[in-house]
Amino acid sequence: MATTIILGSSRSNGNTNTIVQALVQKSGASRIDLLDYNIGRYDYTNQNKDDDFIPLIADIIDGSKTILFATPVYWYSMSGIMKDFVDRLTDCVTIRKDLGRRMQRMRMGLLSCGSEEALLPSFEDPFRETAGYLEMEWIGHVHTWLEEDKLPRSVDKQLTSLAITLNTITT
Ligand SMILES: Cc1cc2nc3c(=O)[nH]c(=O)nc-3n(C[C@H](O)[C@H](O)[C@H](O)COP(=O)(O)O)c2cc1C
Repeated sequence: MATTIILGSSRSNGNTNTIVQALVQKSGASRIDLLDYNIGRYDYTNQNKDDDFIPLIADIIDGSKTILFATPVYWYSMSGIMKDFVDRLTDCVTIRKDLGRRMQRMRMGLLSCGSEEALLPSFEDPFRETAGYLEMEWIGHVHTWLEEDKLPRSVDKQLTSLAITLNTITT
């Protein structure tokens, strides 16, 4: 049950990455870092159709059953780099509908990392609704934070449960 975790932080070795690495250890999931790719903002005239987005999403679809978005909380919302990636999913329902159709068989989940436990309940809405629009199975959202640069026990337990979900076969 391959999972690809898509890290969308403004720094590759920050707090969200610490959480992602802990989940990789527990689940065996693969991690990709959006900072390693050249992915332009959504463009109505598709001038950026030859950047890294289409090959990257095609590889993820080929190799994964589950996409797990991992974003820091920036101003109560997802990061800008993650939003640019989510906006580009539009390409999968317009110029590359074949990719969008193949995503229908996949699962989507969300991992967020903020400065504290508190998070607006609406934070996950854009992801959950996007999963619904793309006819993907929504597997849920785990919110995390660090305390003195370490995983609190409750976060560690949630990551263990998430790892089990990621590796559980569903039809
Ligand atoms: C631009 C910016 C905005 C932030 N806004 C929030 C916020 O609204 N809520 C919150 O809990 N933390 C907020 N934070 C704190 C980060 O979510 C937190 O430090 C997170 O662990 C950073 O992850 P990173 O190291 O991967 O960037 C913000 C941080 C930055 C840099």
